[in-house]
Amino acid sequence: MDSNRSFDIDTTRPKVGTVLDFDLTDSSGRVILKAGRPFDESIRQRLLSSGIQKLTIRVETQAVSANQILLDSYPPESVARLQEMLSATEQSFDAFVKELMQDRQASCLDLLNQVDRLIAEATKEVSTLLAVLAARVDDGLQQESNRVQTRSTRLSCLSIIAGTELGLNSEDIKSIGLAALIHDIALLLHPEWRDPEYRSSRKEEFVEAFRTHPIESTRYLRFVTKLSQHAIMLISQIHEQLDGSGFPYGLRGLQIHPAARIMNVVDAYMEIANPTFREIGLVAPDALAHLCFHAAEGVFDRDATRSLIDAISIYPIGTEVEMSDSRRAIVIRTNPGRPLEPVVRFLDGPHDIADLVKMDLQILAPATAGKGLKRLDPKKEMLLPLWIATTNLDFFE
Ligand SMILES: [Fe+2]
Repeated sequence: MDSNRSFDIDTTRPKVGTVLDFDLTDSSGRVILKAGRPFDESIRQRLLSSGIQKLTIRVETQAVSANQILLDSYPPESVARLQEMLSATEQSFDAFVKELMQDRQASCLDLLNQVDRLIAEATKEVSTLLAVLAARVDDGLQQESNRVQTRSTRLSCLSIIAGTELGLNSEDIKSIGLAALIHDIALLLHPEWRDPEYRSSRKEEFVEAFRTHPIESTRYLRFVTKLSQHAIMLISQIHEQLDGSGFPYGLRGLQIHPAARIMNVVDAYMEIANPTFREIGLVAPDALAHLCFHAAEGVFDRDATRSLIDAISIYPIGTEVEMSDSRRAIVIRTNPGRPLEPVVRFLDGPHDIADLVKMDLQILAPATAGKGLKRLDPKKEMLLPLWIATTNLDFFE
């Protein structure tokens, strides 16, 4: 709610004659004071008899979404250019898939050109790109943002950003940009996996098939031209875990390429925060905490995990938070080296910007309400492998 008009009525000392230009209603929607009618003794008595001594009225005006407030914090031409770039990437993905499905042959030249654009923008305008990506996730319904092309485009961008932070060479960056984009192509061959009934009625079959989807993707992509063996290898390794608990081959440690480890961590973070098959994801700081816990247990590459967190910080851009003065805010920029003190913009009242490094104001907690996310329940969920899309469906459904 945007409340840019707010005023109090003291019912013990009423301003008789106060006239509102809207109906004043109570929390159950009953009209207390009609628009245009003055506040008078009878209404004062009615409020007092209900134990109400003071009213704070907030006037709802046109709601401005948190995403809009986030995007308004960046130059509009940069936002528009990045939105166009991401849409163009998805369109190239769609055209590629169409061509591939028709005759099992396709060229990924177009996708490679898009990856070059993503890399250039990720180097030049990383904060704006992170803001645009965050807004795209929340703009769509969960289903929508989980469309393979939308999720893969985001995975590609975040892998490029985290891989750059890790110091991967340019060939690896280009390969992960492309591999992340097309690695889940096998999911498009199984639309039935999106159906909760199918997943629960054929659970074992589904879980088993899901564990081989990287192999299915690489088989499906083998006749694609301009697709390097390096990228194919990365696609096959994206779900392998450092401790051998991953799939499809159960590789461990040095058997897994460093570039695949970065994609693995980014994919895991995205899955925890925006699950493919479960209803509700975790707020970003809790998703990262979950990831860190399992990195410490040896499941994820620690350098890759650190690089992701260095790149997006603990309160990533787009995270909604509750502040120590009770207001809600959204993170619009991160402060290097000060992960707990980002720059935020208030969602309540005038949308002021506050750099928490320079102010005596703290983040109390990530907010769950606005984005339909939840906090991590450490007792029940910390040990679960929440990064695996098929994890413990019974638990969640
Ligand atoms: Fe996958």
